[in-house]
Amino acid sequence: MACRPGGTPRPETGASGPEPHRPRFHFTPPAHWMNDPNGMFYLNGEYHLHYQYYPDSTVWGPMHWGHAVSRDLVRWEHLPVSLAPDSLGYIFSGSAVVDADNRSGFGTPDQPPVVAAFTYHDPVALEAGRKDFQSQGIAYSLDDGRNWTKYENNPVLPNTTENQDFRDPKLIWHPGSEQWVMALAVYDRVQFYGSSDLKNWAFLSEFGLPGDTRLWECPDLFPLRMPGSREEKWVLLVSIQQEGPNGGTGTSYFLGDFDGANFSADAGGQHWLDYGPDNYAFVTWDNAPVGWGSRLGIGWMSNWQYAQEVPTQSWRSAMTLPRVLSLKTLGDSLVLAALPVPSVSGLRGEATALPEKITGRKAISGNFSPSACDLVLQTDLSRTTATRFGFTLTNAAGNKLEVSFDREAMQMRVDRTRSGPGGFSDTFFKGPHTAPMLMEGNVWDVRALLDVASMELFAGEGALNFTEIFFPETPFATLELWAEGDWYLNEGTVYALGAATRKEP
Ligand code: FRU
Repeated sequence: MACRPGGTPRPETGASGPEPHRPRFHFTPPAHWMNDPNGMFYLNGEYHLHYQYYPDSTVWGPMHWGHAVSRDLVRWEHLPVSLAPDSLGYIFSGSAVVDADNRSGFGTPDQPPVVAAFTYHDPVALEAGRKDFQSQGIAYSLDDGRNWTKYENNPVLPNTTENQDFRDPKLIWHPGSEQWVMALAVYDRVQFYGSSDLKNWAFLSEFGLPGDTRLWECPDLFPLRMPGSREEKWVLLVSIQQEGPNGGTGTSYFLGDFDGANFSADAGGQHWLDYGPDNYAFVTWDNAPVGWGSRLGIGWMSNWQYAQEVPTQSWRSAMTLPRVLSLKTLGDSLVLAALPVPSVSGLRGEATALPEKITGRKAISGNFSPSACDLVLQTDLSRTTATRFGFTLTNAAGNKLEVSFDREAMQMRVDRTRSGPGGFSDTFFKGPHTAPMLMEGNVWDVRALLDVASMELFAGEGALNFTEIFFPETPFATLELWAEGDWYLNEGTVYALGAATRKEP
């Protein structure tokens, strides 16, 4: 039975048993299937997170918008489903904005609405062989995002293009042209539409890469201040369904300019936001109080190559940690850097200092579990003679996860090929996964956040980030640092990380 708005999703009782891969401080649905983050906004002290949700199964199906709120982006309270399928179709991905000036007219000046835009995916039209089975709808809330009403004249943007993929509307207010702008993924490009009231939309322009035939999804568009300057640069995020940096799906970005109608990309083209395989559909919060130089976002911590097969029983998928995006100059280039939100550090417990110098292998013991910890490593490259160094996590079952830095190849590697029992997917255990090491100066800073079944690595002050999931038979229990030569650390600390206690309704 489908979960209607108002029906709160609950964890399975009885059948679920222990949940050995449930993260301790990453967002997961209480039960059943989740994919993309959707409809994120900040209002009155609360960060809202919606997500693609199928409340009847642990595999993808008729999509709803699941809902949760948090005051610190770490502890989440699950709320009832906000949007459920109706006669126009399933509720696919989209975004939400705080319509502070009530331009939509859904609220009043005293009670401004929050307006969500989503894609209707009509399975009946698809079955009938029609091409226009995806269209855009809107809904609004007048009570801080607790209850949502779909607009009576939906869809607000039917598909009149030649492409059947027409989805994932991202709304932003563009102050320069004083209009709402919608970025929409249309097969292998992004289209932009403009509106004064969020209900009537006019085509503005489109942006794509000549010759590209990959499927683009989940765009996002926002300005960021350039480092050390008052100038701004526009960022266009777009998720790509194939040929991710380490296989399968991945989130990419372009830097450039948006004048209210057209996006033009800088030379340098398309970049990957994350080099790991498990950060898809990364999009950002509307209205978050983070200032002009930053933008707050979150990604789905999985990959369509195996998302529906991963070995969790009662639920599927987690989100990445919320991340703060900013622009950073690295050599001659400008990069979009990402770091975990500062509030994650509030989960830190006891600190274990690492040795200043590692030669060979060194097991690290202390009052922390390698399965849930925050590992901070600042390598002094001027004294380090090792060309390869890194760390390895193991357990008694013989599962292993290895991270290595190769200074000669200037490559970072994450090897999860033996991280757990195989069999659930052909592609999951292919590897190792690699990323170019982006280094500047004499310090190579790395932070690894481990949470039972995932690792998020941030290096070079966030210029390089790398997200991986894995499913060990028992929690990783041993952490070893190793170096082929001498590895010097200016700073090295492992922090125990506590669980983010969730509030259930
Ligand atoms: C991306 C995506 C979106 C779509 C949604 C459906 O992961 O394919 O394009 O709206 O998932 O669940």
